Amino acid sequence: MIPCVDLVARCLRGIERLCAEELRGLGGEVTGVEHRLVACRAASPARLLTAGTVDDLFLLAARLEAVDHRRSALAEAAAQAARAPVEALVAAAGAVRPVPADAPFEVVASFLGRRNYNRFEIERAVGEALERTTGRRFVPGPAAPGGHPPLTFRVHLYDGGGFLGLRLSAEPLHRRPYRRTSLEGALHPPLAYAAALLAGIGPGDLVVDPCCGAGTMLLEAARCQPAARLLAADVSAAALRAAAGNGIGPLVVADAGCLPVAGGAGAVVVTNPPWDRRVAPAGSLRDGLGPLWAEVARIGDRAAVVLEELEGHAGAIRAAGLRAVSLDRVAVSGAWTTLGLLSR
Ligand SMILES: C[S@@+](CC[C@H](N)C(=O)[O-])C[C@H]1O[C@@H](n2cnc3c(N)ncnc32)[C@H](O)[C@@H]1O
Repeated sequence: MIPCVDLVARCLRGIERLCAEELRGLGGEVTGVEHRLVACRAASPARLLTAGTVDDLFLLAARLEAVDHRRSALAEAAAQAARAPVEALVAAAGAVRPVPADAPFEVVASFLGRRNYNRFEIERAVGEALERTTGRRFVPGPAAPGGHPPLTFRVHLYDGGGFLGLRLSAEPLHRRPYRRTSLEGALHPPLAYAAALLAGIGPGDLVVDPCCGAGTMLLEAARCQPAARLLAADVSAAALRAAAGNGIGPLVVADAGCLPVAGGAGAVVVTNPPWDRRVAPAGSLRDGLGPLWAEVARIGDRAAVVLEELEGHAGAIRAAGLRAVSLDRVAVSGAWTTLGLLSR
């Protein structure tokens, strides 16, 4: 029997349930779901690296206990790290990617709540403890861009607990190689992937983003369902150039209130419409998103939408003949947005 390894996946706050479902589908046995974390066990951890909703995936080195807000917690975290079987985890990471025998490491720490120490003090305490027990070189942060060592240990502390993990991949999973061109307001890719999962895209489905920007929603839809047919539209030619630079197509310059798609096409709409704070609505959407909802109802069966305060559009959505099946608040870089599923 192949032994299972324990892992911790970090994801955006608000998509933990979708992330857990995705990991189950990839063969993970989910053992716990917490704030921004999904714990699981897997016999083939490399499969979990394909998860689109995961920001970062770690082999679990230790569950940290009694690491509270006091400064004495620094020594406690260091002592628990020193007892963790980290060389076995380095070998497991080495089974999925190249890891030099004498690979140095960094430690990245974060915590929730108020503490009498900062993240750099945790990184130093744990890094020095691991340096003593493994003989590997600890590279204190912050690392220069492109200057990260091959191994990254992650410490995360929260009320009553925490974990020490080793990143399984060389880079965080939320970094997508397709992202050659970005735009103001470009979406965090794992949230776009969560929207695609929520939309339940089937093979052959026509998937339309009427406000595609740099194309993140459709690029993630294609990753989620490679046999989907895509159509990217935006009123801005600059946005479409960015989408083309990221390899998405076909592309069409169009106003989201008047799409070149036949009525009753049964399309699946995935979109992140403009909202005033970062990306100004243009054309027919200047006075509100009513024309967009009407087009979604005309061409689509259902729509997965990412929009700040989507809840506030309930009246206009209903007036277009759509109903909100689910509305979930999601935190992205400290700001709240909503991931919603609308249906005709
Ligand atoms: C929030 S951005 C989309 C970002 C995109 N999801 C990404 O990751 O790059 C909203 C987009 O809506 C477009 N937009 C604004 N008004 C529009 C309209 N009336 N019709 C179509 N697109 C519009 C903007 O040009 C912008 O690219």
